[in-house]
Amino acid sequence: MQRRAFTLAALATPFALQAAEPVKVGFLVKQAEEPWFQDEWKFAEQAAKDKGFTLVKIGIPNGEKTLAAIDNLAAQKAVGLVICAPDVKLGVAINRAAKRHKLKVMSVDDQLVDGAGKPIADIPHMGISGYEIGKQVGAGLLAEIKARGWKLEEVGVLRVAYDQLPTGRERTMGAADALKAAGMPAANIIDAPQAKTDTESAFNAANIAFTKNAKFKKWVAFGLNDEAALGAVRAGEGRGIKADAMLAIGIGGSQTALNEFTKPTPTGFFGTVLISPKRHGYETATMVFEWATQGKQPPAVTLTSGVLMTRQNQADIRKQMGL
Ligand code: GLA
Repeated sequence: MQRRAFTLAALATPFALQAAEPVKVGFLVKQAEEPWFQDEWKFAEQAAKDKGFTLVKIGIPNGEKTLAAIDNLAAQKAVGLVICAPDVKLGVAINRAAKRHKLKVMSVDDQLVDGAGKPIADIPHMGISGYEIGKQVGAGLLAEIKARGWKLEEVGVLRVAYDQLPTGRERTMGAADALKAAGMPAANIIDAPQAKTDTESAFNAANIAFTKNAKFKKWVAFGLNDEAALGAVRAGEGRGIKADAMLAIGIGGSQTALNEFTKPTPTGFFGTVLISPKRHGYETATMVFEWATQGKQPPAVTLTSGVLMTRQNQADIRKQMGL
């Protein structure tokens, strides 16, 4: 009798241990220091808590670190990952690594592409509707240009460009197209290509463009994110183009933008199109978890929208968006 009970207990233990081991989902981002990605992680953590899985957060600033992170997740027996890669052309390598380790993979923000630059169809994606949101940036700029009584012909338009990233190009082209459609001369649109998507790179790019185009005394500026717009604002300030002569609208609405809005004196950073780190973080992590554990396939592409936020309406808008 006693011997039998012992055997059963011994048998039961390994199963009990197995059941107690948490399901792990990775969340890999290209720029861990950027407030947008911090917010995505925060909301992904919330999903992990609500749904009962463990989130493994890894910063992946380059290709080597990206592939090492996927191996690392496999070694930890994760079931899948959400990824915003440092270069969308890593798509094929990422897909191959995930498949080799039987990990579900979904992209967020930056859609992964194949060797020909085409989106990889079997990697589900959630990102913003780049072109539409770009047009919202343009519309916001036009309204404020009008409010300030500026003439379109006298305004320089700084497009901080990161065209190697399709969503980056779509966003800034949407803004440029909206301005052109309203009568902005195409010749006033100055491209300032940035080497990375952070503030410093945008600052450097904007500085060069301002030097080369000193004939413009009034400027509007935009880029793929808040950091790009902010880099342009800081570069302008350094050259005497202050808040009364600079009008920049970013995309994001995370801490980078909020810091500007809470400064006692308004800066040239006029506004931002607030997008949803909550959706991008919470929903993608949940989708990968449910895909891996319940076989629920995520939609191929989910595009999210944004809303113009300025110093004036920021508190209301953020509340409305559940932030
Ligand atoms: C890209 C940008 C980020 C952020 C996200 C939002 O990844 O580099 O700054 O704007 O898109 O989708």
